[in-house]
Amino acid sequence: MEILIRSTPDDVAAQAADILAGYAQRGATLGLATGSTPLLTYRELIRRHANEGLSFAYCRAFLLDEYVGLPAAHPQSYAATIRREFTSHVDIPDAQVHSPRGDAPDPLAAALSYEALLAATTVDVQLLGIGGNGHIGFNEPSSSLSSLTRLKTLHPRTIEDNARFFGDEELVPTHVLTQGLGTISRASHLLLLATGESKADAVAAMAEGPLSAQCPASILQLHRHATVVLDEAAAARLRNAEYYRYADTHKPANQDY
Ligand code: GLP
Repeated sequence: MEILIRSTPDDVAAQAADILAGYAQRGATLGLATGSTPLLTYRELIRRHANEGLSFAYCRAFLLDEYVGLPAAHPQSYAATIRREFTSHVDIPDAQVHSPRGDAPDPLAAALSYEALLAATTVDVQLLGIGGNGHIGFNEPSSSLSSLTRLKTLHPRTIEDNARFFGDEELVPTHVLTQGLGTISRASHLLLLATGESKADAVAAMAEGPLSAQCPASILQLHRHATVVLDEAAAARLRNAEYYRYADTHKPANQDY
């Protein structure tokens, strides 16, 4: 796992956008994430699209997860969120942006069909945030480390964390469809971003704690190509922060992120 510590959330976004722009230029398959953390990165990619001609026209994109029971047109569905915050502002055609169908009459079948779609695809880079309890996608603590796309019950802490988007905790759906940890691990490159003090414990558990279903993000420890970009606040509880900074400035020649 490569851990890059940057000063501010804006610096995290600039670093993440540098990495993602390289993939976009190759027309890669992008795994996208929702949540507030990647918003600055999306804003920076949109800016590069508008001002520097960065194109996503040949990319395909796959979302990590979706709330069960929300139609794609619901403003808080992740399908609507990713369009509003990112894809509608760049040149990727809508038909090339995929997500699990949260309003399918049979959510289990919707999970299986999304998994089948992903099994026929190689996601070149998967962008990830991290929940305060160490979840990625919506893989809550206790998720099998090799899980596939499935129906999950949200942890009360996640419902509380996400209530800000719905205005009221009661309105947050209790169930979700999420790519599993096994599904996410098939992506060629995992790029996890975390900013702010509220993520510091989860980041320390992910990077320096044991590999454990109690911290689903710890699967990054098993991945061959995982990059973690943190601001100072999110990095505050890492025991080996000084080493990560040193390694970042003493990279072997010709080695890219
Ligand atoms: C949500 C999403 C995750 C996201 C996480 C953190 O529940 N399902 O994909 O990474 O929580 O969100 P935020 O970036 O808003 O803190």
